[in-house]
Amino acid sequence: MLNIALVGVGTVGGAVADILEKNRALITARAGKNIRVVKGVVKNATRQRGDLGFPLTTDYREVVEDPAIDVVVELMGGVDKAFEIVSAALRNKKAVVTANKAMLAYHRYELEELARDLPFMYEASVAGGIPIIRALRDGLCANHIESIRGVINGTCNYMLTRMFDKRVSFDQALKEAQGLGYAEADPTFDIGGFDAAHKLLILASLAYGIDAKPNDILIEGIGHLTDEDIAFAEEFGYTIKSLAIAKKVGSKVSLRVHPALITKKEVIAKVEGVMNGVAVVGDKVGETFYYGAGAGGEATASSVIADLIAIARGETTPMLGFSYGFDSQLTLAAKDDITSKYYIRILVEDVAGVLAQTAAVLAKNNISIETVLQRKKRVKKEWANLLLSTHIARETDLIGALHEIAELGFVKAPPAMIRIES
Ligand code: HSE
Repeated sequence: MLNIALVGVGTVGGAVADILEKNRALITARAGKNIRVVKGVVKNATRQRGDLGFPLTTDYREVVEDPAIDVVVELMGGVDKAFEIVSAALRNKKAVVTANKAMLAYHRYELEELARDLPFMYEASVAGGIPIIRALRDGLCANHIESIRGVINGTCNYMLTRMFDKRVSFDQALKEAQGLGYAEADPTFDIGGFDAAHKLLILASLAYGIDAKPNDILIEGIGHLTDEDIAFAEEFGYTIKSLAIAKKVGSKVSLRVHPALITKKEVIAKVEGVMNGVAVVGDKVGETFYYGAGAGGEATASSVIADLIAIARGETTPMLGFSYGFDSQLTLAAKDDITSKYYIRILVEDVAGVLAQTAAVLAKNNISIETVLQRKKRVKKEWANLLLSTHIARETDLIGALHEIAELGFVKAPPAMIRIES
């Protein structure tokens, strides 16, 4: 028997309890023992939840200090309180399963230190039902990981898909995503890129042994995208995805989350709606791709239960994919140490010399133009959007050029840019 406590009995916790019952024979056969929910910890024990089949408490000490409980399953979310509870569970020698990406983004190395030989599993923390943690930690572990590119925020992907396919506005797309229950309680986590960044940091530890925190990496949301950007992307065979990217160049690893134009031919461009997809390139295996539901009670519970089965089987594996104490020779690249192709949008007064002066500033900053397109503003006919794409340039040069362009008399709003990921 493996006795577990659920800390958080909401959508995911409820689904875990439900699937453990419904698939009991199968799960027991695979785990080699029965997995039983002994108790749930909730904020409000009086809320109606139907017949769960196990008692509830509001005091987490009742489970972390109970010698009968083998595994504490943390599904409450948030950083500080969850960290307090999980730390207490580890100090009391409980195994831990968690789906909490935010807590891991900040505290995974402290938790590794506390856990040492205790099982600590977190498959559900990245890309919901996709076994991407196992892929990196186990399946690909013979490889140096050259890159990871992920569509790992379902809310952003749903919104961008709707903005492309149905030309709905940003606000409308967000409202729909919230209505469908995809967004975090605070949707700025999704649309600001923070949720994806938390997940990327977890993957970066497994792939590279790098301890980075959210503040250390470039995180850019999708809030500045307009219908002109979408029309430009369509015209030139691109789609726009919010990508979480890890790239190893020499002994440096670049980690970043931002919207990117990618050609429609790429597999990752075909990840649509709320679905998630992660492409991982290993130096020996080449490109591999993982696709599936990144959110939702049952998909996330599927990963939580896989972790419970692994613990029941007695699987031992280093929590962060490397033996404890491993000292990675790789270091984090500076946030602006990026070279890329860029798309630039500049709102201008449509008068003589605009293109020439804009091109001159770009040339002065070593930026070579690849394509140019101009679109009249519908509401203000004397203004136009100048849409350019560049050949590969250094990000610092590009930012410098955009600052200079913003100062030109005919420019009506700060220029916007989107990186082209190729
Ligand atoms: N808000 C997250 C998303 C849920 O949209 O992907 C899963 O982490």
